[in-house]
Amino acid sequence: MIQIEKLRKVYRTRGREVTAVDGVDLTVREGEVFGVLGRSGAGKSTLLRCVNLLERPDAGRVLVDGQDLPALSGGELRRARQRIGMIHQHFGLLSSRTVAGNVAFPLEVMGVPRAERAERVAELLELVGLTEHARAYPAQISGGQKQRVGIARALAGRPKVLLSDEATSALDPETTASILELLRDLNRRLGLTILLITHEMDVVKRICDSAAIMRDGRVVESGPVRELLLRPGSELARGLFPLPEPVLRDGTTVVDVTFEGDSADRPFVSTLARTYSIDVNILGGAVEEIGGTRIGRLRIELPGEPDVNAAQLAHLREAGLAVEVHGAAGDPAAPGGTPATEEEAPVS
Ligand SMILES: Nc1ncnc2c1ncn2[C@@H]1O[C@H](COP(=O)(O)OP(=O)(O)OP(=O)(O)O)[C@@H](O)[C@H]1O
Ligand SMILES: [Mg+2]
Repeated sequence: MIQIEKLRKVYRTRGREVTAVDGVDLTVREGEVFGVLGRSGAGKSTLLRCVNLLERPDAGRVLVDGQDLPALSGGELRRARQRIGMIHQHFGLLSSRTVAGNVAFPLEVMGVPRAERAERVAELLELVGLTEHARAYPAQISGGQKQRVGIARALAGRPKVLLSDEATSALDPETTASILELLRDLNRRLGLTILLITHEMDVVKRICDSAAIMRDGRVVESGPVRELLLRPGSELARGLFPLPEPVLRDGTTVVDVTFEGDSADRPFVSTLARTYSIDVNILGGAVEEIGGTRIGRLRIELPGEPDVNAAQLAHLREAGLAVEVHGAAGDPAAPGGTPATEEEAPVS
């Protein structure tokens, strides 16, 4: 488990101060895959680097398995850091060493004896599916295979936690999918807790149990992915189910309905139309498989202003659906009613 409390990191260069992480609280539960999203410069990498103390935070605590890392020193800190693996977008392999040699490197640094090292390297290569490429050099393998080497190397010290900074950003979609599958598999088989940074919604969809969105050094939204998707106004929901800005017309109500699991299988649109004898217009939507559950978002338009649709909206809510009304009365932010301005769109 990773607990981040009131974390703050300020960079000072040539008299200029940048508060890269500005009071972040975050809990990553043991054995979960947690994704951090946000625009460039939001502070994601800095946050991650504070977790394994590549950066020293200016304030706050980082507890990994209950151990307050910034409070440790010397040997204790080195040992604690071995329990945290890290992978990067550009792999960072040593070009003069073979695949096996790259994986052996951290074991050498840790002082693991030669015989044990060879055994461990073989085990790690097997784990990531690279046994046959043990003697190849980085220049002779593909990007996906390079990242597998990166993962094997990160797992050398039998970490409980794996940090990943855009590990699939340099890969094509197919290779990305296979690396994500490997991470999910390692997460389950080894009980590995994974904290990853991504700008790809697909990564969140495929493997994240929980997610957080950062902006200007702060976390603006966080929680289990499923809960966030059902939360009205969620940026993650807008990112995963992109719908255009709603066009609001007088005399109608535009509603975004999010449904999951059981409620995804019920024909709520036709039930609504029949129950109230109204025409329901479908404006857009999508259904996705997220974390093994079917979750969908549908934008519908009902006749009449929101205030005359109170019963209809209550009907949808009672059916277990998350309902978000656009341009509801009393919301001067219309048109739109949602805070989905260009600047606040979730991620690039
Ligand atoms: N070593 C550094 N020295 C000075 N400023 C830095 C340093 N590293 C990062 N920053 C600044 O801190 C802020 C957060 O940077 P960070 O790299 O954490 O963002 P990020 O969310 O990872 O962005 P990206 O998506 O582009 O990787 C930025 O304003 C950046 O310019
Ligand atoms: Mg970064």
